[in-house]
Amino acid sequence: MKRVFRPYYLLLSAILTMTVIAGSAVAQTKKVIKTENARPSSAWTGDQLYKEFCAACHGADGKGNGPATSALKNNPTDLTQITRHNSSKYPDAKMHDIILGTQAIAAHGNNEMPVWGDVFKSISANQTFGEMRVDMLVKYLQSIQR
Ligand code: HEC
Repeated sequence: MKRVFRPYYLLLSAILTMTVIAGSAVAQTKKVIKTENARPSSAWTGDQLYKEFCAACHGADGKGNGPATSALKNNPTDLTQITRHNSSKYPDAKMHDIILGTQAIAAHGNNEMPVWGDVFKSISANQTFGEMRVDMLVKYLQSIQR
């Protein structure tokens, strides 16, 4: 059966676990990523979409250190270095494919980068609007290249 990525977005919650070991109290904070169905969104600019759907992992500045990072096995990519890592040319088409989910990022292993095509379709009135949102994100990411 084909693996289908459910539309979702992320919430972080901190669970405080108290453990008592040999008379000394040790407080431990554990971060858990909760997934939910995406809600209709009013975000329409690349900047808003990025904050709403990407910043939790990739960080507000795109450098890959968002609040969800500590709960991930792989570090999110530094999104400000994409042009630099692609022979100084921003790969629009490839970015579009990665975000939509038509291009797998890692050939194997467990891939923690969510696939967004279905999410943007589900939060938008129709498929065209969903793809417009992906385009806006691709342009936004181009604007943060260093
Ligand atoms: C749950 C955390 C998480 C969220 C949310 C997330 N990403 Fe990622 N992203 C990752 C991780 C982890 C990687 C690195 C994947 C790997 O190395 O296998 C990554 C990698 C990427 C890459 C690099 C792919 C490459 O091959 O260079 C791009 C581009 C990207 N993400 C864009 C986005 C965009 C745009 C959004 C928001 C729509 C987003 N990400 C939301 C975790 C996330």
